[in-house]
Amino acid sequence: MNEVIKIFGPNRLKGDIRVSGSKNALLPIIAASTLVDEVKLQNVPNITDCYFMLSIFRELGGNFTWLDNQTLGLGFSKAKSDTLLLPYVTAVRASILFVPAILFAFDHCKIFLPGGDSFSPRPVNYHMAIFEEFGFKCSLSKNYLSINRSRRTPNRVTINLPFASVGATQQAILMATFFRVNTEIFNAAFEPEILDLMKFIKSLGVKFQVLFSRKLIRVFPAKRSKPRKSHIFKVQGDRIEFITWCILGALCGDLVRVTGYPVKWLKRPLEVIHETGARIKVESKDTVLVKTQRRIKRVSVECKPYPDFPTDAQPLLAVLATQCDGNSTITDTVFPSRFSHCEELKKMGAQITVKGNSLTVKGPTKLLGASVLSHDIRASASLIVAGIIAEGETTVDGIHHLKRGYEKFDEKLRSLGANIFTMEQEVDHFC
Ligand code: EPU
Repeated sequence: MNEVIKIFGPNRLKGDIRVSGSKNALLPIIAASTLVDEVKLQNVPNITDCYFMLSIFRELGGNFTWLDNQTLGLGFSKAKSDTLLLPYVTAVRASILFVPAILFAFDHCKIFLPGGDSFSPRPVNYHMAIFEEFGFKCSLSKNYLSINRSRRTPNRVTINLPFASVGATQQAILMATFFRVNTEIFNAAFEPEILDLMKFIKSLGVKFQVLFSRKLIRVFPAKRSKPRKSHIFKVQGDRIEFITWCILGALCGDLVRVTGYPVKWLKRPLEVIHETGARIKVESKDTVLVKTQRRIKRVSVECKPYPDFPTDAQPLLAVLATQCDGNSTITDTVFPSRFSHCEELKKMGAQITVKGNSLTVKGPTKLLGASVLSHDIRASASLIVAGIIAEGETTVDGIHHLKRGYEKFDEKLRSLGANIFTMEQEVDHFC
């Protein structure tokens, strides 16, 4: 049997919805929990990527307990293994953020290449360059990465990132903290999830200087050893989930109140939704109201690192574009081939042309229910959103991807009035 999501559309949605804790803030914080003996994490989402990270954490010698369904107690003393050759490592991209804890304990490490969504090539060359700046030599084979000490870690480290990579910025921060080296990260990424990691690490006595205009982060690590006492940290809300509900509200909201994320960090995505003509009103510092309009204007958007429009919301924006008046263009400069959702949306009647790293979406188009397959987290969400505005029955397969990053997605949608169900379906076996 195989789990699928079925939607009987079209649906108009109304009501209040609160985002869960952020996947992309949580995963690096689990890796950073190897810096402290004890920590209590609050606002933890129940998603598969969290379970994968916890399994790796445990394999490294850590322990964890669910104190309630959103609170995790984590304990760690020292990495007990220099190798991470586990299937979970290949399942989640953030697994590579455990390397600093291993290098700190053993001066060498062997790890499967990290996985995660496979919508684009996801090399680890920036991570390797960071390890090398800290005095290690890396060698890459087909499936794993070996890292060995080649010289002393210098007293100061300067990292120049070729692209403002989220994971590489987090990696540099963790290496600087473990090895207690003053570090400058040029062309750093500034996604709010990175700010959450810095906030977590700050409580260990590490200081940061964040020069946004120069795209520079300076890390001044604590000279003393890690604190032994327990501390408590609340993971921020999920930025991408917030945008997901706002786009849904713009498509079919009678009035949807989305809450649980600082609106000041959503300037560009909310501006884009506003430009379509959808009614969007900021109600408080973490809440917006969204209502659809009869006519939605076309969009022209480039997905870039924060504070620009996020690549993670690009598949959702593509669905919104199917209902816009005229030709919309969406360019993804972060993951130039993250377009697996497009072929599936076409099965529902969307008129999308992919050229290089850009999409042209002709609208407005009436979407019709169909059987579609999702290949990654955000593609799953976009196909479900499409199913909600489509006429008839939509079956979305591959929803294990959805569960990697979204908590209670179908349940939350039902609370807004959507006709959506998770069902078991028999798998066809072909000889
Ligand atoms: N890149 C390299 N070499 C590297 C690292 C990155 O060429 O060593 C390239 C990537 O191929 C990509 C660009 O740099 O073209 C940016 O990638 P980045 O490193 O920023 O992405 P990431 O850290 O692997 C995180 C999120 C992704 C999100 C991206 C971009 C986590 C666990 N993952 O990935 O989230 O799309 O940043 O914002 O934080 C998702 O949530 O659905 C998701 C995929």
